[in-house]
Amino acid sequence: MKIGVIGAGVMGRGIAQVSAMAGHSVVLFDVNHEMLEVAENAIDKNLTKAIDLKKINSQEKESTQKRIQFSNSVADVKVDLIIEAIVEKIEAKLKVFNDLAEINKEDTVYASNTSSIPLTQIAAGFKYPSRMVGIHFFNPAHIMKLVEVIRAEQTDPQVLEQAISYVSSVRKKFIIAADAPGFIVNRVARHFYVEGLRVLEEDVASHEVIDELIRSSGFKMGPFELMDLIGVETNLSVTESMYKLFNYDQKFRPNRIQQKKVQAGYFGRKSGQGFYSYD
Ligand SMILES: NC(=O)c1ccc[n+]([C@@H]2O[C@H](COP(=O)([O-])OP(=O)(O)OC[C@H]3O[C@@H](n4cnc5c(N)ncnc54)[C@H](O)[C@@H]3O)[C@@H](O)[C@H]2O)c1
Repeated sequence: MKIGVIGAGVMGRGIAQVSAMAGHSVVLFDVNHEMLEVAENAIDKNLTKAIDLKKINSQEKESTQKRIQFSNSVADVKVDLIIEAIVEKIEAKLKVFNDLAEINKEDTVYASNTSSIPLTQIAAGFKYPSRMVGIHFFNPAHIMKLVEVIRAEQTDPQVLEQAISYVSSVRKKFIIAADAPGFIVNRVARHFYVEGLRVLEEDVASHEVIDELIRSSGFKMGPFELMDLIGVETNLSVTESMYKLFNYDQKFRPNRIQQKKVQAGYFGRKSGQGFYSYD
């Protein structure tokens, strides 16, 4: 299958990698040329690590890389399945989907990796509503096993089947979720971040102490190091979107500490500074 991945950021590059590893031919498109270079290097590093761990051999690494075309020309994205992973803003997503609809076939499947924007709303603003579906990977996409497949009100059952078949082809476990705010994982996990920020806001403990405690209680990461991995600004956009979708329920209230980090450009690992500093 030919896959177009839109956005070569934290998620897009991982989705491109797993798709190419499964034998799909991939066009990874980003408007920012630098992000394509960063993505190419990150994929190279991940694949080298996979060789070190004896998960693949060097030939498999080479053939995976050959299957990915890095492009900053939208005209290159003529594919069977599009997976969009750009900024968490509905206007930007709709613009890119509708531009792609102009150059793709009518039976192309259009999927969004959104964490919190209702798929039904995206489908409503799109030229082919019944061909829209959610394919929500988790970070890091080349490692995390679960993918949520989200059915918009308008999704054609056959399109849902095609999305499931793609997810199975990249050897991920899928669950089907209805189009509810935050779907399943982000809804449950939102309190991990929101409550962690409140503990910090109330000066109960530092972010380092909170992370250490959460890790020592069995979690892989604490909320602050996880926000740095996700992207502090992406995580905030998801909280803001869910706060609105849950009719401003205080349990989803965005936190000023996080808003200030975003205003300062402290996005986490991707910018070298978030709650922690990175080289
Ligand atoms: N970061 C996470 O942990 C995570 C997890 C699951 C889902 N998501 C979702 O995935 C999506 C992407 O998140 P991310 O963290 O990868 O973002 P990111 O900021 O790391 O990357 C976004 C990329 O999209 C590019 N871009 C922006 N507008 C574009 C356009 N019009 N056309 C092409 N490229 C464009 C940017 O240059 C950037 O490289 C969001 O919807 C987010 O909610 C994120």
